[in-house]
Amino acid sequence: MAPRLLTQAPAAAAVLAAGGLVALPTETVYGLAAAADDPAAVARVFAVKGRPVSHPLIVHLASPRDVGVWAREVPESAQRLIAQAWPGPLTIVLPKQPWVPVEITGGQDTVALRVPAHKATRDVIDALGEVSGRAAAVVAPSANRYGAVSPTTAAHVLDGLGKWLLDSDAILDGGPCRIGVESTIVDVAAGVIRVLRPGGYPITDTGADAGAGAAVPRVPGAVASHYAPRAKVRVMDAPMRLRPDVVGDDLRIGLIAPHGVATPLGWHRLAAPPDDRAYARQLYAALREADERGLTDIVAVPPSDGPLVAAIRDRLRRAAATAD
Ligand code: TXA
Ligand code: MG
Repeated sequence: MAPRLLTQAPAAAAVLAAGGLVALPTETVYGLAAAADDPAAVARVFAVKGRPVSHPLIVHLASPRDVGVWAREVPESAQRLIAQAWPGPLTIVLPKQPWVPVEITGGQDTVALRVPAHKATRDVIDALGEVSGRAAAVVAPSANRYGAVSPTTAAHVLDGLGKWLLDSDAILDGGPCRIGVESTIVDVAAGVIRVLRPGGYPITDTGADAGAGAAVPRVPGAVASHYAPRAKVRVMDAPMRLRPDVVGDDLRIGLIAPHGVATPLGWHRLAAPPDDRAYARQLYAALREADERGLTDIVAVPPSDGPLVAAIRDRLRRAAATAD
């Protein structure tokens, strides 16, 4: 039993139309997609991920023209963001239309929408629309088990979800993700723009109100431990020797750090990205490689500047948090 590996959008749309799940490539991370109007398929997304049903899903559209199908009002600030950022790594939380099922929104009065930049995935949604004769959409959380590191290649999806998917499900291989961390999520209700999750869209470009603060409970990626490999992650400003009395003596340490940072003797270099964009793109694969190599610890030195630093620091902090 294994999901089929596909390379063509129409074949992927056919799987979705038949009620199957398809892991789809986006510019941020791979998403585990179900047709948004298929309640049984949507329920399976939660089961395959092992995700609590109270955590809402992002609805992915082929084009901004379908926003009104899902959102009952689109404030001017949101219209500006849509024109500026879509297709792209920005998710916008808007008041939902009454018909939008509670299974998608986690029972909230809002719905999270995004038009992804990866053309193959927009083609899949368009093709699904042609089959159904309606404005199609897919729900797609990141295609990983709940709490685990998000996938940035088709191989990562197979590795993490292969045994949970059926052979009637599929993975559409669209190559490695160009951005590598999840979309930025903004809430535009109440007239202010609030960042709920920093991500692939630069926060400074959202026009977010700095004083608006971040909302916590609606974002499962916001629970303390998330995006976590098995190895223990430590975030540091420079690679310092770990004290053996604190960490034990059988250490196998991996280092993720900007290009100019030297690797201490005996450590395994997992990534040496030249800037914040490369750092984001390589981060999740590096966390996975640490587990594949059986490393016990990962030291991560974040990049010092660039538009994606907030997202990188956020993911590293959560990868470093211990589940309790
Ligand atoms: O880049 C991404 O956003 C990827 C790709 C596949 O598009 N998707 C993704 O989905 O990261 P997921 O489910 O792993 O994270 C979606 C986040 C969750 O933290 C969820 O709580 C939040 O979006 N969310 C969804 N609907 C919401 C809503 N109505 N209000 C607030 N947050 C919402
Ligand atoms: Mg996720």
